[in-house]
Amino acid sequence: MAPSPAPLPLVLGISGASAQPLAQRALQLLLEAEIPVELITSRGAFLVWQAELGVRVPPDPAAQEAFWRERTGCSSGVLRCHRWNDQAAAIASGSYRTRGMLILPASMGTVGRIATGVALDLIERAADVHLKEGRPLVIAPRELPWNLVHLRNLTRLAEAGARIAPPVPAWYHQPTTIEEMVDFLVIRVFDVLGLELGSLRRWQGPIDASSAAQRPSA
Ligand SMILES: Cc1cc2nc3c(=O)[nH]c(=O)nc-3n(C[C@H](O)[C@H](O)[C@H](O)COP(=O)(O)O)c2cc1C
Repeated sequence: MAPSPAPLPLVLGISGASAQPLAQRALQLLLEAEIPVELITSRGAFLVWQAELGVRVPPDPAAQEAFWRERTGCSSGVLRCHRWNDQAAAIASGSYRTRGMLILPASMGTVGRIATGVALDLIERAADVHLKEGRPLVIAPRELPWNLVHLRNLTRLAEAGARIAPPVPAWYHQPTTIEEMVDFLVIRVFDVLGLELGSLRRWQGPIDASSAAQRPSA
């Protein structure tokens, strides 16, 4: 019997918006689920890691893989890191097959360049490829407030086939820690890609007062 084909990779683009812990958790869940990851960290994201977390992300792909594996505590799974501007990477071509692409978080700069077809770095080129190939592209923009230019760019991307999934918190799952809120945001974004990773207390409808009193606190 022929061996089953290797699972297609997911392209994960991390751009220079706030909320980098969401990207780290998304990567961890993907690696734990043995979904191969093609990872691009933008030049802007390096600066945000430095500014927000006091951490220097190495630009060299091999050093970066070691960095992400240490951050996620995950030595298993396929992880290919790319230089932010490597336009010759396999994922810069539509002939290289993937299961889709997620940009988490997406900066307004990256959103604007993809929306106008300006592929200056590898995230933008890979996103352009996913749109032209009609493959899933999920964009998780992080900015507040959105100006009219941001809104028009996001609308343009939605019209071109991308799904816009901003990491917006909710409280109906009754989070008690930041980690639970991070998981809610990441898992709901994965929902848009059709990926069931991690565990989440999903909305099952209102609970009546008597069962609420008996509900476990976990
Ligand atoms: C600490 C920090 C936080 C930032 N947060 C955001 C943000 O939430 N959204 C955004 O669009 N830009 C944000 N920026 C600005 C972007 O990083 C900047 O526009 C950068 O050029 C984006 O580059 P990239 O799109 O190549 O990642 C932030 C910058 C810094 C230093």
